Amino acid sequence: MGVSRRAVLRAAAALGGLGALGTRDPAAQELRDAPCGEHALPPGNDQPSLAALAARQNRFFGAAVKDPLFTDASFRDLVIKQCNILVCTYSMKWRSLEPEPGRFDFRLADRYVDFAEEHGMAFRGHTLVWQKATPPWLDDELSAKGFAVVERHIRAIAGHYAGRLRSWDVVNEAVWPEDGRADRLRSNVFLEALGPSYIEAAFAVAREADPTALLYYNANPAPYTGGQNREHFEGVIALLERLLGRGVPVQGVGLQSHLAAAHAEKFDEATLVWFYERASALGLEIMITELDVSDKGLPTDVALRDRLVARTYRRFLDVTLAFPAVKGVLSWGLSDRFTGHNRWARPDRWAVRALPYDHCMQPKLARREIAEAFLAHDLDR
Ligand code: G3I
Repeated sequence: MGVSRRAVLRAAAALGGLGALGTRDPAAQELRDAPCGEHALPPGNDQPSLAALAARQNRFFGAAVKDPLFTDASFRDLVIKQCNILVCTYSMKWRSLEPEPGRFDFRLADRYVDFAEEHGMAFRGHTLVWQKATPPWLDDELSAKGFAVVERHIRAIAGHYAGRLRSWDVVNEAVWPEDGRADRLRSNVFLEALGPSYIEAAFAVAREADPTALLYYNANPAPYTGGQNREHFEGVIALLERLLGRGVPVQGVGLQSHLAAAHAEKFDEATLVWFYERASALGLEIMITELDVSDKGLPTDVALRDRLVARTYRRFLDVTLAFPAVKGVLSWGLSDRFTGHNRWARPDRWAVRALPYDHCMQPKLARREIAEAFLAHDLDR
């Protein structure tokens, strides 16, 4: 008796090979995963859309997108249905946009902004100044020409998109208490070449280049006890207070929020609340900019991982969405088919299930908990 098509698809899907269902990131193609639908919510469980639930609270819900947006129809359709704001995982970073000094290539990034405009979505620019994803020539150029290199980049990029983006992450991940500085700034290539003033200078140039975009600092402290996480949150607030005190045009703070279900016991709700209260008191917008929940450190059991990931989403968003200054939530990817987490695989060689939709674009428990969190905080309820 031949092997049924369903059995073949189940086997293929379980091995991560999705065939007609679309191909995963290369990193995930060797990993195992549950067959399509095995842990998905029943059909019809992804309406109203997350964008609609957010919009009725005058908020955004969206996701970080990458190039399969233009080649995978099931992913594209899901993004269009569920998102009212987008951000690029990579295509608006320095290395992608300025491959050589003073030579800019906007072709790919333009496709993303065009797509968002075509579908009535807002767009976050990510990111103008970050010590990663920089071109190999940057260090030498900075040493030779100083801030002029940063200014040229910001004027070209923010100028090119002026009037089209809702916001820019002008500076990303510049606070790092672990580097031991009194100001808790990260000792990165910009600080070493230009001193701490590179941050305010970057915001000033971005304001001139695009008078309409909201200018954000994008922060990556983890809301867990231990390490220097609390000092990181404090360092971000201290930086924002210094900038605002000098009249620097900062309108928002992004909180990346890369969470881990295995750290649930260390969730530091008090510090998160403290941060939201302080940022709100500074008159800043708050955006959850890169939300995802790793299931690394959890057992292989897919149903258990999905439950614990969903619970982590809900607990974090229940705290977060209580603050009116929180203007929206973007997950760092929308479907497990295209999460970056599999670049560092789970030891059991099972694919990570960190996002609201599974590798077959079907809603998971996480998606239900995100929706429930928005519903629970419907400001006009
Ligand atoms: O697409 C190019 C390909 O054309 C080229 O041949 C290849 C050569 O290395 O690189 C490919 O680009 C990769 C890119 O992701 C495409 O997805 C880069 O190598 C790789 O470094 C890049 O990684 C991104 C990383 O930031 C560094 O930019 C991840 O996708 C992205 O998820 C990650 O996102 C960061 C946020 O920006 C900041 N917060 C943390 C977050 C997760 O690390």
